[in-house]
Amino acid sequence: MGITLEKISKSYDGRAVLKNLNLEINQGEFHVLLGPSGGGKTTTLSVMAGLTEQDSGSVSIGGQDVSNLSPDKRRIGFVFQDHALFPHLTVFDNVAYGLRVRRIKGHEMTRKVENYLSKVSIVKEKGKFPHQLSGGQKQRTALARALVIEPEILLMDEPMSSLDAMTKETVRDELKSIQQEIGVTTVYVTHDHNEAVLLGDRVSVLNNGRVEQIESPSELFHHPKTEFVARFIGIKNILKVSLIEINNHEATVRISSNGPDQSVTIRVKKYPIFGKGKEINLCIHPKKIMLKREDEAVDDNLNRIRGKIVKKTNNGNGFMAIVDIGGTTLYAAIPTNFDCKVYENVWVCFAPDAPHPLCGKKCRAAETKRRCLKE
Ligand SMILES: Nc1ncnc2c1ncn2[C@@H]1O[C@H](COP(=O)(O)OP(=O)(O)OP(=O)(O)O)[C@@H](O)[C@H]1O
Ligand SMILES: [Mg+2]
Repeated sequence: MGITLEKISKSYDGRAVLKNLNLEINQGEFHVLLGPSGGGKTTTLSVMAGLTEQDSGSVSIGGQDVSNLSPDKRRIGFVFQDHALFPHLTVFDNVAYGLRVRRIKGHEMTRKVENYLSKVSIVKEKGKFPHQLSGGQKQRTALARALVIEPEILLMDEPMSSLDAMTKETVRDELKSIQQEIGVTTVYVTHDHNEAVLLGDRVSVLNNGRVEQIESPSELFHHPKTEFVARFIGIKNILKVSLIEINNHEATVRISSNGPDQSVTIRVKKYPIFGKGKEINLCIHPKKIMLKREDEAVDDNLNRIRGKIVKKTNNGNGFMAIVDIGGTTLYAAIPTNFDCKVYENVWVCFAPDAPHPLCGKKCRAAETKRRCLKE
């Protein structure tokens, strides 16, 4: 079954944490709630589960309004960030807990517990207590405990945050395949955009109590809608521009994020999202920026902007230059054969089709041939 939140609001001490939040999650979907700390992710899950009561708005599961149902009547499994295992119960009894509460006993209970212990590969540990388990094993136990009651909806709150990188990868892959196998509708909270891409069928970006964008992971990366979403998923170069002139294939725009005395114009591909007088955000991938020396010739087809290198960083895959172009900074990947120094003056060059608008797919609206170029 799917789960729908309609106009959910929640305040603590007069401070709005969820603001008219709408979210529709489809049956069988692996949905990732992505957002910064304090954005309202845990509160959203907690309202879904009925552990926190919303001030207004409704929660429906499978089309039925469950707003007035207690947590145990909502058929929801919850995996908490800190696992929240019962310390005095063994792995087996932790997993069996929800079944006992539902008065499922004897052979049927054992069969179900063993089945889920085996799905999460923790059968050998079934006699151990939580303090005798590794982080990954605690995580698996918590997952089996949530799944054994065969919930309609599985909610997971940053379940991998305490695991090392290798265990995280293994548990994540297993989680994805178990979810696909049993088809349980899943809502998974994280602030890690890589995790969102690897796990999510769709991703909601939550900011300050509102959903800023809902999209499949690849569309989210290619068509972020707002500057917040773009920055949050790791897009570094964002230029605010306003339209000066448009012709058949190209538009001339002024970089408005530079001060008024720093009038820089560039030519960019013409996108349907452009409108006169409207300020829009363009992003450019650091690899699409070429740095050239001041005395080097630059192809007429390329944009070129005067810049000064203010910093060099190593991002693990190679060096990046941070270039000041007069009030705005851009990241540019430095090719291995380009030796440049901090405070050196350079030309920042890129093709007109390198910048891409932050459009939330609006750029595709008009005609298919006008689709945004993928990065
Ligand atoms: N029980 C509570 N009482 C008062 N304020 C609360 C309570 N629960 C949450 N808040 C506040 O609501 C806001 C959102 O909290 P929430 O836990 O939903 O954020 P989050 O997105 O899960 O953050 P994180 O990534 O740090 O877990 C925070 O400012 C938090 O301080
Ligand atoms: Mg949280």
